[in-house]
Amino acid sequence: MPSASLHKRSRRCYKRRQGDGVKELEDVYNLPGMLTPAEVDCLYSLGQFNQRDGVIVEIGSWKGKSTVALGRGAAKVHHEKIHAIDPHEILPEEKYFEDTEAEFLANIKQAGVDSQVVPLIMTSEEAARGWNKPIRLLWIDGDHRYESTKLDFILWEPFLVEGGILAMHDTIRKHGPKKVLWENVFRSGRFQEIAIVDNITAMRKVKQAPLTARLQNYLTLMLRALYIAARKSGVPRSKTVGRQLLRRLTAQTWLPAVLLVFSSSIAR
Ligand SMILES: C[S@@+](CC[C@H](N)C(=O)[O-])C[C@H]1O[C@@H](n2cnc3c(N)ncnc32)[C@H](O)[C@@H]1O
Repeated sequence: MPSASLHKRSRRCYKRRQGDGVKELEDVYNLPGMLTPAEVDCLYSLGQFNQRDGVIVEIGSWKGKSTVALGRGAAKVHHEKIHAIDPHEILPEEKYFEDTEAEFLANIKQAGVDSQVVPLIMTSEEAARGWNKPIRLLWIDGDHRYESTKLDFILWEPFLVEGGILAMHDTIRKHGPKKVLWENVFRSGRFQEIAIVDNITAMRKVKQAPLTARLQNYLTLMLRALYIAARKSGVPRSKTVGRQLLRRLTAQTWLPAVLLVFSSSIAR
């Protein structure tokens, strides 16, 4: 889709929704969780991603904010389940001090997505044993320590179909996801069309990214590095301006046009 038409659509979205966000996500914005409104919109868009085969796998549900965003999106276009993996246990090393299972189940029920969700109350390592389903969208937001994030990637990425989407959270601030992205994703040559929405990085898996896609990846990564450096050095307004720029410049054609991530973010 040519970018001019994307811009036109996004401006229309902006006018219609100025200050409101996406109507059907209002309750989701208010759920407890670590996602910004733009990240909720992003997951909602990714949930609508219509690959022919595969389920959605979420690693790390906590109280269900991302599960609901994915579920609302998925409900619009297909009937594949969201397999939501989380032991919901206390994990002081990652600052989780409560059992969140009951609240998670209550939130997905309240949001009306419980019939689409298969809760897997266990670690991603346990859930991976015997797993054999193709995955269209793999969302990694579990234990963010390097070894755990790497394990999540190594165990689950082989099930992601070619053309499927890998999305990871905390990829700007946290060492673990950042390092895994760099070592296992960016340098692999098997992912392209990198999109960055606040702390989410999403990209499409391919057999081998062509040269043009690699160049595009390279430019995105340069921009991302500049943004991270500016934030670390305390450049005024680097967070707001950098986020806006990254969202706009990395918005991808595989994100459903009606919900262009950058349009909803402009509206905030
Ligand atoms: C950052 S929170 C997830 C936030 C959630 N995606 C949201 O939108 O609010 C991380 C979650 O990962 C879970 N977790 C920790 N270790 C895990 C593992 N090995 N496998 C799956 N989930 C894990 C924690 O219990 C916690 O609920």
